[in-house]
Amino acid sequence: MDKIDKLEQLKSTDKLRHMCEDFTKNSVIDRELYSKFGVKRGLRNADGSGVVAGITNVCCVHGYVISEGDKQPIDGELIYRGYNIRDLVSGALNDRRYGYEEVAYLLLFGVLPNETELTNFARLIAEYRELPRYFSEDVIMRNPSPNIMNKMQQAVLTLYSYDSDPENKSVESEMLKAISVISKLPAIMVDSYQALRRFYNNDTMVMHQINKDESLAESILSTLRDDRAYTPEEAKLLDLCLMLHAEHGGGNNSTFTCRTVSSSGTDAYSAYAAAIGSLKGPRHGGANIKVMQMLDFVKVGVKDWEDDEEVAAFLKKLLRKEAGDRSGLIYGMGHAVYTLSDPRAVILKENAMNLARGTDFEREFKLLNSIERLTPWVFAEERGAIKNICANVDMYSGLVYKMLRIPVEMYTALFACARMAGWCAHRMEEMINGKRIIRPAYKAINLNKEYIPIDKRP
Ligand code: COA
Repeated sequence: MDKIDKLEQLKSTDKLRHMCEDFTKNSVIDRELYSKFGVKRGLRNADGSGVVAGITNVCCVHGYVISEGDKQPIDGELIYRGYNIRDLVSGALNDRRYGYEEVAYLLLFGVLPNETELTNFARLIAEYRELPRYFSEDVIMRNPSPNIMNKMQQAVLTLYSYDSDPENKSVESEMLKAISVISKLPAIMVDSYQALRRFYNNDTMVMHQINKDESLAESILSTLRDDRAYTPEEAKLLDLCLMLHAEHGGGNNSTFTCRTVSSSGTDAYSAYAAAIGSLKGPRHGGANIKVMQMLDFVKVGVKDWEDDEEVAAFLKKLLRKEAGDRSGLIYGMGHAVYTLSDPRAVILKENAMNLARGTDFEREFKLLNSIERLTPWVFAEERGAIKNICANVDMYSGLVYKMLRIPVEMYTALFACARMAGWCAHRMEEMINGKRIIRPAYKAINLNKEYIPIDKRP
């Protein structure tokens, strides 16, 4: 308690209330003004498509086609460096090998590795998995955080101090930094969780040695679990999640953040830390935790999980802010690009259902499936929206992690570990191509007030 900032004493005081009232009165912007001034709220065009802000070789997220000026919905496609995610996933599954390392290689270098290249790369990122000496003690344990994403963000920023040449932005140096953060982030995540467990959950902290013979997915499970035990099926399912989360184009919020920060010419650690901060948000990566919290609300609020009418009635309450976290959002549904389907959600659902069948999780899967099926209809009824709304990857990822006995605090952190490969590819692409600071404009309103000397103010 003694580490809580003294500012807390201001909470619930009149002084703070007045400050907030002034802020709100002088800051709220009438929504009409966006269309009046032609300002693209959320950097979106009128049809919801994103404003084109850059060109990339790294990834293509395809969710609609424009035909004669109209946005036509289609099944979503996700393409990493020219290769369809479905092919990358089925290639790894058919060969019964782990796929995340291959995807990270592809994203970083732009080509598929041959067998020797893949083995060498997997060994390389395993080699650098270990954190610098006393890093955990000094950076993570001494100042644990109740939020793993927050701790990961701090830890990535602190890696700057452990780099002998942190400001070097040559391709060679950036590549070393990329390999280092991709390798180390899982260990940072697990140690941050162990600290949270010890200092916030009154539990025991278990710190295992890193086994460099394991794949990234295996290493996460074996360092996380007290007994280090996991089945190949579990590790393969986690590996699949990592593959599906590794990259998602230049315009998603965290990657665009990474590119924006990089465009100022600052160091790699600042850019990766900023991206982690963005991903933490509940409208972005943080949605996987929110889906599971929402599922808990639905499980309590709906007596018969198989009754579509009862489930739909509860979904309406969510949209009306009468239930759940009262945000008005149905988490796990909707996407800025995908219209009919998010391929990541489709692939994850197929594979996860195989593991859930016949277990206690099957009923929860079916309930999520009902939410997926009923939401478009409920959305249309409540909002009169004609917009297509489909399940996104977060709809099923939380339940998959739950089946893998991964603690809920780690869900978004796993997303960050996977996405680091994508962020690195985009940062390096921005560094060699952009060469111009990303700097959009804001239309200013409420101009030209006459200055009042302090002794004349009310
Ligand atoms: N629940 C309730 N309202 C939703 C919604 C959802 N799942 N998805 C979209 N909407 C709303 C938006 O808030 C927006 O409302 P507004 O015009 O009043 O601001 C409107 O529908 C149109 O939104 P759209 O342009 O299609 O989506 P977006 O690009 O603004 O938002 C998400 C995309 C993903 C942020 C949004 O769908 C969402 O918040 N989903 C829930 C959180 C989630 O699952 N995030 C994971 C993303 S992978």
